[in-house]
Amino acid sequence: MSEIIVAANWKMNKTVTESNDLVKEILKEVPVIDSVTCIVFPPFLSLPSVANLIKGSSIKLGAQNMHSAQKGAFTGEVSGLMLQDYCSYVLLGHSERRVLFGETDEFVNEKLAGAIEFGLRPIVCVGEQSSDRARGLTENVIRSQIKNSLKDIEGINDIIVAYEPVWAIGTGTAASPEDAEEVNKFIRDELALMFGSEKVLQTPILYGGSVTEDNIAEFLAKPNVNGALIGGASLSSEGFTQILQNACNLT
Ligand code: PGA
Repeated sequence: MSEIIVAANWKMNKTVTESNDLVKEILKEVPVIDSVTCIVFPPFLSLPSVANLIKGSSIKLGAQNMHSAQKGAFTGEVSGLMLQDYCSYVLLGHSERRVLFGETDEFVNEKLAGAIEFGLRPIVCVGEQSSDRARGLTENVIRSQIKNSLKDIEGINDIIVAYEPVWAIGTGTAASPEDAEEVNKFIRDELALMFGSEKVLQTPILYGGSVTEDNIAEFLAKPNVNGALIGGASLSSEGFTQILQNACNLT
């Protein structure tokens, strides 16, 4: 596995000015990255200016969500066609979209087809609730999310998967690196059943949920954890550049 991905999900944080300031700080401090792919996911409104600021740098840009349709009567939504002018990645099926906005695997699957159509590299998020884990249902939940979110997709090609246990997101209680490795390996095995084992050897599978500069190295040391999706700790340039530095030091 050659690619390590460090992705910053800013969620609904940062005005346009604040986004610009943060990305300028990251650009100042960013280590020379060749072995790590760094992607930032600002709010929609900040995409144009951040896209401008990162031109010529190694930082990549992604959107936090998209609609599956190209255009039409979908008030408040943003399509892949609109996003492709600014970014090359898109987050799909984040647990906040699933839990707070009722997104189903079927909808995530439609969005995934849309992302592929518009040349956006998707990060498909999956993860169990704490009640699922307590009842020993983690694998059932993950299997069903993977199968249904990636249903009828022609190839695994550029798809990235992120395992984000819902109980670990924004709580300060990360999964153990061993638990993350176990679930990420399970995800790779499920993908292998769908797409063939050769095809999924290079599929990046990330871990997300309370990742910080203090624990990133332990996660990335695991063979099936090929990167991290970071929320809270990506909102300060100091924290995030330290995370990047720690990831670079491992390669
Ligand atoms: P967190 O969020 O790092 O704040 O836990 C991760 C995410 O939601 O992607």
